[in-house]
Amino acid sequence: MGIAGRHAVVVYSTLFGTTARVAELVAAELRALLGGRVPTLDVAYVDPAELAGYDLVVLGACTWNVGQLPPDLELRLPQLEALDLRGKALALFGTGDQAGYPDTFVDAIGIVADRLEATGARLVGRWPAADYGFSASLALRGGELLGLAVDEDNEPELTAVRVCAWVERVVAEASLPGRGSIASDDNRATGERAGAAEGAGSGHGTRAEGQALRPVAADHLG
Ligand SMILES: Cc1cc2nc3c(=O)[nH]c(=O)nc-3n(C[C@H](O)[C@H](O)[C@H](O)COP(=O)(O)O)c2cc1C
Repeated sequence: MGIAGRHAVVVYSTLFGTTARVAELVAAELRALLGGRVPTLDVAYVDPAELAGYDLVVLGACTWNVGQLPPDLELRLPQLEALDLRGKALALFGTGDQAGYPDTFVDAIGIVADRLEATGARLVGRWPAADYGFSASLALRGGELLGLAVDEDNEPELTAVRVCAWVERVVAEASLPGRGSIASDDNRATGERAGAAEGAGSGHGTRAEGQALRPVAADHLG
């Protein structure tokens, strides 16, 4: 287990706020699964060195200007690339528009994955591409995306369920002490998740494999 309360951090880069909102959903799910604090930080203001203190770094970005990174992230990437994240897990998500930009859909995920390879972080949270309709993406590797694609422009109704399923996958692949891994933490995290669910008024219980449920994240959607 990592340092208490330092399991995970969510960093995002946004132009119009969509990616910041999705980052909050991701953080809410992580909190529900892991317990403790999960900060969400705008990449424009983050101290890159601080990120190395977390077991899991989640980075989300929109794709902008047809296949480009948002400017804040482009500026910050040289510092992020220089981090030593060996032994840490990295998970990526991207916001994009598969109908408007089908040839560069969530390219930012692919660009960031390539650039951050130098950190030595282990990439977790690949995501099936079959569920989307696009022709090309730098995020695509052998039928999978290198991270979660969220399309709030065309499929906003799928965002919460996608985020929920993806975060569960990320936690499992990152071997973080959430539900279903370490017994003592398992009890704690399960209790907190149940509490979060009650607070959200969803009342969901144990999830069967592959069965969608109303995610904690749903209540954070605006
Ligand atoms: C000028 C412009 C260019 C865009 N280029 C792309 C693109 O190349 N690929 C993509 O998937 N989405 C693209 N988008 C869609 C945005 O990534 C999407 O709307 C995203 O949710 C915006 O996130 P934000 O609100 O965090 O800035 C573009 C949007 C605009 C307005």
